[in-house]
Amino acid sequence: MFHGGIYPETAKRGPRGHLIIGGCDVTDLATELGTPLFIYDEQTLRGQCRAYAQALADAYPDFEVIFASKALSCRAMCELVEQEGLSLEVSSGGELMAALLAGFPTERIYFHGNYKTTEEIELGMDAGVGHFVLDSFEEIDRVAARAAARGLRQPVMVRITPGVAAHTHKAMTTGHNDSKFGFTLQGGLATEAVRRAFASPHLRLDGVHMHIGSQILELRSYVRAVRTLCAALAQWRAELGFECRLLDIGGGLGVRYTSAEGPAPTVRHWVRTVAGAVDRELARHGLPRPRLMVEPGRSIVGRAGVTIYRVGLIKALPSGRTFVTVDGGMSDNMRPALYGSLYEPAIANKMGAAPAGRVTIAGRHCETGDILVEDTPLAAAEPGDILVLPVTGAYCVGLANNYNGQPRPAVVMVRDGRAHVIIERETWSDVVRMQRPLRDDAREECFTQSEDFASV
Ligand code: LLP
Repeated sequence: MFHGGIYPETAKRGPRGHLIIGGCDVTDLATELGTPLFIYDEQTLRGQCRAYAQALADAYPDFEVIFASKALSCRAMCELVEQEGLSLEVSSGGELMAALLAGFPTERIYFHGNYKTTEEIELGMDAGVGHFVLDSFEEIDRVAARAAARGLRQPVMVRITPGVAAHTHKAMTTGHNDSKFGFTLQGGLATEAVRRAFASPHLRLDGVHMHIGSQILELRSYVRAVRTLCAALAQWRAELGFECRLLDIGGGLGVRYTSAEGPAPTVRHWVRTVAGAVDRELARHGLPRPRLMVEPGRSIVGRAGVTIYRVGLIKALPSGRTFVTVDGGMSDNMRPALYGSLYEPAIANKMGAAPAGRVTIAGRHCETGDILVEDTPLAAAEPGDILVLPVTGAYCVGLANNYNGQPRPAVVMVRDGRAHVIIERETWSDVVRMQRPLRDDAREECFTQSEDFASV
């Protein structure tokens, strides 16, 4: 039943036909913690961190694995990543704050993003972030100016756009020549960025970074991008005297979302492919070996996480379509609406039951497009059942929102039969907490009312 590797490693069917993850009965978690609920299997998370570290240790002598925190940014995940010895990529002040809250060693934090505000640059420098990954000429100047004002030489890297369009959803490609990210080799922008950053007395240019996109299952694009980047490194060494000590080839390895898809390349296969390409291209140009850095997100957390919902109602239309409506939707999973992502649902309290027909899983939001899974086989569903969507561990928590005033779900980590909440469920009061009245003179009255409400 757990064929296809779309459930966390510890998933199994319990005696009552219930889905068990990390030794916890998912149906009981729904009763205790409410729904919708994100459930993460700690063993799978740690296993994926180790898979990267081991594969790199076998493939390349000097390496660093950096978890792209946007795939799951929260304090507990930063703590886990630190325990596993990985470094951390952040791309905003908020993601940096989660890392700081976790006490993550700041010298192992890489601050990315195509536009870091002045406040974020200041926050990063106050915190002592290891490297800023520079993404625009304005940013080169701004980071240099802030470093000069503080009398320091800030370690940085430069993000290069290699001009490679990876095979993935259009919204997830970043390595092509008209991407908003990084400096293109095309037109010499990357060369100019390296020249400026290298020449600045307030910056220490340690290396370069690329990231060609996400959910990539076809690895040839990496080989092409590495070839292009290494040729540029050879040129910069000859012309500018720039020695690259850190070479970050980004993340992007895709995962399998449904058992109908073919298996995704393994972490080991991906690492071998990219490390092999790096080795070959360095040798071709007679370049010394820099530290090889990779920056995975999805492939570490994707399969470790599932979302559970309670089925609220079943609506069978004369058109032949049957909607199974659940208590969440696009507020906890934007991915079907944004990218047309596919999922394979099951009923967590009826695992192994044969499909009773085809249904469409609808969310509860006021949008026709609020569909989690369109036209999918499912066991006979009834109100009260617990619906599970596997492989929701990457990006869903981060993309969650309060559309229709929906409180964001809780996130729980499971291991050895114990469940530990790592992000609390929002309440309706949380949803309105930051809201202020139209006029100041109404403020007191409003506070009084909301206090009355809270005490109900
Ligand atoms: N490094 C950088 C600079 C990135 O921008 C990203 C992802 C990663 C690493 C990690 O890539 P991964 O290994 O997770 O593919 N919201 C979309 C995905 C957006 C990816 C953004 N950047 C989704 O839900 O599929």
